[in-house]
Amino acid sequence: MSKEKVLVIGASGTVGSSLVQELQNKDVEVVQATSRKPTSSHQVQLNLVTGEGVKQAFEGIDKAYLLSPPGVADQYSVLSPLIQEAKRRGLKKVVLMTAMGADADPESPFRRAEVELEQSGLTYNIIRPNWFYQNFNTFWVQGIVEQNKILLPAGNVKVSFIDARDIAAVAATLLTTDEFDNQAFNLSGLDAVDHSEVAQAISNVVSREVTYEEIEPEVLKAGLLGAGLPEDYVDFMLLIFGFLREGYNAGLTDEVEKILGRKPRGLNQYTEDFKKAW
Ligand SMILES: NC(=O)c1ccc[n+]([C@@H]2O[C@H](COP(=O)([O-])OP(=O)(O)OC[C@H]3O[C@@H](n4cnc5c(N)ncnc54)[C@H](OP(=O)(O)O)[C@@H]3O)[C@@H](O)[C@H]2O)c1
Repeated sequence: MSKEKVLVIGASGTVGSSLVQELQNKDVEVVQATSRKPTSSHQVQLNLVTGEGVKQAFEGIDKAYLLSPPGVADQYSVLSPLIQEAKRRGLKKVVLMTAMGADADPESPFRRAEVELEQSGLTYNIIRPNWFYQNFNTFWVQGIVEQNKILLPAGNVKVSFIDARDIAAVAATLLTTDEFDNQAFNLSGLDAVDHSEVAQAISNVVSREVTYEEIEPEVLKAGLLGAGLPEDYVDFMLLIFGFLREGYNAGLTDEVEKILGRKPRGLNQYTEDFKKAW
């Protein structure tokens, strides 16, 4: 019998790269979607924004992992064509990653995509992770390396950050079992910590002082616009930082443990494993 073929959207990304590994370890054939020119026969080129290559990418695919890339504020416009193509092809299963809180507003683009998948007739899972720990070694790394500071409009509230490797492990399990079919999961990490605690944990592993300094949302906005992000996406970021400051991202869930049979990683594990980044 031939192996199942799983299409991974965003395969080179933070969650996607771990997911590819996890699936290959489970002896699954992975088709890695990229916006770039493919460099291996395991890759397929598509553009999630223009839709170019989407239909071809689903050729011969059994299951798919879907996400909308950062930078796009209307995630529905990216995800709906993928869900429609999965439906047209009669895929055996789709796992969609949105974000914790996506189901709070029925009109939000993420929620509209979730509903479309729920009503598609496809077998599915939706995973809604909290803020990733890995943001500190990607999006926010420059301030830490150059100024020893985490500069964010994040208040002093707790956030139950999740390690992206655990999201990938969850997605890999959901793509290879039917035990949890047709359910949505809100994924948190092991512990809820504030940004000063993250700064302290980074300080501990790099042996220099890193601190958290709260900034005004407008300062972040100027920085993100300066980095070339589109204004509607920057406004989306400010909106979700507002929810974070209200404490909406503090809650711990046991969903990772339910699916993986082990606890998720926490802050100290993350900073230890990523200390080279800082
Ligand atoms: N970061 C967080 O704290 C957080 C929390 C909750 C939810 N999320 C959600 O997680 C998602 C991002 O996941 P991630 O961090 O794993 O992704 P990521 O690391 O940003 O990777 C996304 C990948 O998508 C590919 N890509 C970008 N633009 C593309 C395009 N136009 N067409 C095709 N491919 C494209 C890129 O790969 P190539 O260069 O190979 O094309 C990129 O590696 C977002 O939907 C975000 O809302 C994030």
